[in-house]
Amino acid sequence: MSLPASDINAKADQRTTMDLGAVLPMTAQVESHHLVIGGVDMVDLARSQGTALYVYDEADIRQRMRDYRLSFASVYPDSGIIYASKAFLNKALVRIAAEEGMNLDVSGGGELAVARAAGFPMDRVFVHGNNKTQVELEEAISAGVGRIVVDSRIELERVESIAAQHGIVQDVFMRITPGVEADTHEYIRTGCEDSKFGFTMRDDWAFRCVKDVLAAPHVRLVGLHMHIGSQIFALHSYDEAIAVIVEFMRRIKETYGVEIKELDVGGGVGVAYLADDKPATIKDFADVVSDSVTRHCNAFGLTLPRLLCEPGRSIVACAGVTLYTVGILKTLPGIRKYVAIDGGMSDNVRTALYHADYEATIANKADEPRSEIVTLCGKHCESGDAVVLDGSLQHPEIGDIACVFGTGAYCRSMSSNYNGQPRPAVVFVKDGHARVVTRRETYDDLMACDIDEECAR
Ligand SMILES: Cc1ncc(COP(=O)(O)O)c(C=O)c1O
Repeated sequence: MSLPASDINAKADQRTTMDLGAVLPMTAQVESHHLVIGGVDMVDLARSQGTALYVYDEADIRQRMRDYRLSFASVYPDSGIIYASKAFLNKALVRIAAEEGMNLDVSGGGELAVARAAGFPMDRVFVHGNNKTQVELEEAISAGVGRIVVDSRIELERVESIAAQHGIVQDVFMRITPGVEADTHEYIRTGCEDSKFGFTMRDDWAFRCVKDVLAAPHVRLVGLHMHIGSQIFALHSYDEAIAVIVEFMRRIKETYGVEIKELDVGGGVGVAYLADDKPATIKDFADVVSDSVTRHCNAFGLTLPRLLCEPGRSIVACAGVTLYTVGILKTLPGIRKYVAIDGGMSDNVRTALYHADYEATIANKADEPRSEIVTLCGKHCESGDAVVLDGSLQHPEIGDIACVFGTGAYCRSMSSNYNGQPRPAVVFVKDGHARVVTRRETYDDLMACDIDEECAR
């Protein structure tokens, strides 16, 4: 794997940090040349906590959770927001989600375990996944989760049998694949026909399975779910998918006399990774999906269901940044300039995976124009290991603190120990205070699961 060819004639955009707009965490400021987030100096924080370091603006996370709740409540009173914990999860975040009135989407036993350990109310948990194991389903049902989003006919049988053993009736959603191609990267498109997720509409399979769900005595069908993809800018795809799902609701009512009470339209709202990106706002999303659900339900005379959505990225991505220390500089004449940082694809695999874009700044020169084009490359043994490809940056020097914006979603949660790299700590900043909410891994953590065979004998 190698990097795409650079455009060596590309011009740095000259913008300074505070010109980066929507990419910045809400409380970002520049004071005495330094980047400050949540009232905390990022240069001092990097020096005291070490780098690489994930930093989250707590006020920003809380504000976006509130924006979701209020934007939906103002146009669709019977609504709820489910935070998609795959975007970023630790116990501190779970507690914030609980305080802000979120429900929680967990995919699998590990995320459920974190939610339980943090004391999240289990009746507000939605369990996802296209291949939940028997053990994970047992854990979820015995924990008393609110909803299991059933992804296949085989899984339905498993849920029915486990619920029967527990002597309960489990509330479930059916995940429907609406056959809509959302306008986003193919790796994060999930609602199209060729998808491993959900019940396909092909050959009317999804509808044929409804009778099995309704006939299962230990399962109650309370809702339908769709999720068409992630990092979506064009909201019309939601209307197309909702039209398909509401028509499905109409057929269920007409055929079985059952009204679907809850509809989860998934997550996927895009965020600004580059200063010129113009994603839809949370309010735009709330307006489009509530109008769509209302319009399509009214057209069929259906009672309006409770409306749920499941955002992850649009809550945490821009609240988070990653700090690194610049260690090595290499200029390859006519090719590109490499600025090597003390992290890379182990803490942020998105660039290596999808050539994701990011904006960066040098936190100790935050008021200077970003006058050079450089590639922030990592320290790992892959040529494709980079975090920022040919991006604008101030003149870099060894020891500078580089800050990459927009790394709050799908970075920590997709991180690895590649090359024996301990995962960075996570720090939440707010009102001038920094608190470490997940400590940095140690070398001992890297070996914590290894069995010392000499001692075992
Ligand atoms: C089922 C489901 N719900 C919600 C989400 C969250 O999506 P996003 O982070 O784009 O809002 C995802 C992520 O792809 C998902 O798979």
